[in-house]
Amino acid sequence: MMNCLQSWPEPVVRVQSLAASGVRAIPERYIKPPSHRPLTKNDFSPPQEANIPVIDFQNVFSDDQRLRDEALRNIHSACHEWGFFQVVNHGVSHELMKRTSEVWREFFKLPVEVKQEYANTPATYEGYGSRLGVEKGAILDWSDYFFLNYMPESLRNPNIWPATPASCRELVAEYGHEVCKLGGKLMKAFSMNLGLEEDLLLKAFGGEENVGACLRVNYYPKCPQPDLTLGLSPHSDPGGLTILLPDENVAGLQVCRKGSWLTVKPVPNAFIINIGDQIQVLSNAIYQSVEHRVIVNSNKDRVSLALFYNPRSDLLIEPSKQLVSDDRPALYPPMTYDEYRLYVRTKGPCGKKQVESLKSPRPCSEC
Ligand code: OGA
Ligand code: NI
Repeated sequence: MMNCLQSWPEPVVRVQSLAASGVRAIPERYIKPPSHRPLTKNDFSPPQEANIPVIDFQNVFSDDQRLRDEALRNIHSACHEWGFFQVVNHGVSHELMKRTSEVWREFFKLPVEVKQEYANTPATYEGYGSRLGVEKGAILDWSDYFFLNYMPESLRNPNIWPATPASCRELVAEYGHEVCKLGGKLMKAFSMNLGLEEDLLLKAFGGEENVGACLRVNYYPKCPQPDLTLGLSPHSDPGGLTILLPDENVAGLQVCRKGSWLTVKPVPNAFIINIGDQIQVLSNAIYQSVEHRVIVNSNKDRVSLALFYNPRSDLLIEPSKQLVSDDRPALYPPMTYDEYRLYVRTKGPCGKKQVESLKSPRPCSEC
């Protein structure tokens, strides 16, 4: 298994270079089968206007108990019913958010030869990449990315983070620190909402110093045929929770809601939070990791920063004992995150197939 993860099965093509070459027709490798495209020819349903819940996070720490309870209740129902919400007044400096996203935009503007020095392999995925999964002949997504480990500190290796722009490493370090703090607060809120001791989820993840945190900066170039492809195929996030800084000017993220795709309208200066598979498992499916995908467009490129807040990768994750009863038996067997994420790292984005397959194991050959 490890062997097949050492190198990419085909020569790597940078989507950004393809887009810049001025092709009018995208290569076949990026064309999704008709049922997977963003819009089907006969789809006359009106665009979905509703938005995911927006939470004022500072109310969670209010002295006013009414405000506190209400904010916690709203978070609970968002986690249970949507798997997604936005947070405002989250405590992370808006200035830092802007500068960090801007520095990554600058990185992607660098000549391909420069970025190429950071080319990644599927062994760790760290660095500059253009695909997820190592299946030969897979249909690819219209995006490039940069992936790096932030936590635990033993896995942090700033030497392989971009050296240009000059402020990139420093900003990533500061951004990682602030956003991980927010991750810890969200974990507490989730624990309380599940009726658990407030540090139970964080402990299950290994504690503040041992959690895993990785940053994936997604770059979605303009696409001459956005109706035929996707920037990121449907998937649920395999980790604990995701803190996403979307592009403030370009929409693209779509969330699966009651069988249809809803385009998220980012609120200024907000983060988009979503539940990953590991919290679905720990909560014994009270909280949902919900499928999402990214669409692209022909006018504007898009940059997003996804910070994945994960369990320490060698700990067994299983439904919390307090959430298991005779009436509600454990829905998932214990598994380490190391073991769990091998699947997505091999197969690529795969909807919710993996976490669902744990319930009644069956081979996943369809993706
Ligand atoms: C992800 C993701 C959404 C986006 O990186 O897992 O879902 O808007 N990103 O880029
Ligand atoms: Ni995702």
